[in-house]
Amino acid sequence: MSKFTQDKIVNYLKNYGFVFPCSEIYNGLANAWDYGPVGVLLKNNLKALWWSYFVTGQRNMVGLDSSILLNPDVWKASGHLSSFTDPLIDCKACKQRFRVDKLILSLYPDLKINEKTSFNDLLKIIKDKHITCPSCKKFAWTEIRNFNLMFQTYQGVVNDKKSVLYLRPETAQGIFINFVNIQRSLHLKVPFGVGQIGKAFRNEITPGNFIFRTREFEQMEIEFFCYPKDSEKSFEVWLEKIKGFLYKHLMFSKTNIKLHEHAKADLSHYSSRTIDIEYNFPHGWSELWGLANRTDFDLLSHEKYSKKTLAYLDPKTNKRFIPYVIEPSVGVERLLYALICEKYAIEKVGNDEREVLHLPYALCPYKVAVLPLSNKLEKQANKIFEQILKANLSCAFDITGSIGKRYRRQDAIGTMYCLTYDFDSDKDHCVTIRNRDSMKQERIKISEIIAYLNKANK
Ligand code: GAP
Repeated sequence: MSKFTQDKIVNYLKNYGFVFPCSEIYNGLANAWDYGPVGVLLKNNLKALWWSYFVTGQRNMVGLDSSILLNPDVWKASGHLSSFTDPLIDCKACKQRFRVDKLILSLYPDLKINEKTSFNDLLKIIKDKHITCPSCKKFAWTEIRNFNLMFQTYQGVVNDKKSVLYLRPETAQGIFINFVNIQRSLHLKVPFGVGQIGKAFRNEITPGNFIFRTREFEQMEIEFFCYPKDSEKSFEVWLEKIKGFLYKHLMFSKTNIKLHEHAKADLSHYSSRTIDIEYNFPHGWSELWGLANRTDFDLLSHEKYSKKTLAYLDPKTNKRFIPYVIEPSVGVERLLYALICEKYAIEKVGNDEREVLHLPYALCPYKVAVLPLSNKLEKQANKIFEQILKANLSCAFDITGSIGKRYRRQDAIGTMYCLTYDFDSDKDHCVTIRNRDSMKQERIKISEIIAYLNKANK
């Protein structure tokens, strides 16, 4: 199990300015969260690292930023209007609403049920096992019905059927419908991929477990277009790239990651193969990252609905074909949550304890903090602060409380270095630099701070 409970992580993240409950002064909005001053820095760094590793760092990858609101026909073609549904049941006594398959599996995890299990079969299990409402313990269920997870809104001033739009439930479709634009504008040759980071919205029936499952979230998705015959090999290549990102860049421990290959019966309507990369979250093992072979399903379907050809002209054979697609997809917040669980620690320091976030340097919200030992040294320390900001390094400045307390605060938000300006600094033009992980301190020249930081983190 994870080292800390979910509550412990939630409190820690709130106390240190990472994640706040949304609309808290109005008693909150269930399952919605805001990212505070430290959280937004971490989130941006995580997205930037993903982008540089998966998009700008790969020779056959490009990026995209498509709209959240799309022509509603996109969702007909993608299958989201007909199939992006969960089976829902209501308790007539307490009015609580549940996803039936999850309700059954929470009590009988070994039962073989999946997306394709009929409502009759699900209802039979509820009756045979006499499953009562987890909330009020009564047995007073409604019929099971399908619930579409897409958020609906209206375009313009008239709220009628013709003006209905949907908030995208995945960023992927924006890539598929731009396939030809992207390929032609840059004269790209298959195989190539498109990466995108953006908001997605799902009216989840059972959101929860903090930022693990929310109704508004961000996805980092890649659609990699390849020759059908190469798709299985490409699937393996992308699996290795994801592992490389998790183990080498984010430094995840291998014991907290496992792979779950979907059985054929559990595959989504578009997939011929799916692997979930699971993480050992405080609530248990759950999907962190999905990898799917989406075949030619989406492009073929968009071709059919849009009546535009989306086939690619193979320069080698001069024949047109619809590429297959490999899709690695991860939620920003879910990855951030796993990262925090992985890197947060409470460590003994002498007779004391410290909270520390052992983030890799690239992700640290602040790379360095400047700490004048006394208020009297604020002016000189400020000059160093300015110098670091000019070098484009994110830097904190903290003058409040004892130096020990300030070190603890910076450790807890993952700042890699603390620079202390003391009374000797005026004379020897040096500061003390302290490393977050080793807590070792050394004296370095003020004029060499930037070079030191750049060299230490090459
Ligand atoms: N385009 C494929 C797709 O959307 P998915 O498995 O539904 O597949 C991909 O979602 C990833 O998005 C998940 O692995 C997860 O990291 C993240 N995700 C999905 N639903 C989420 C939610 N409600 N809240 C937070 N993250 C979510």
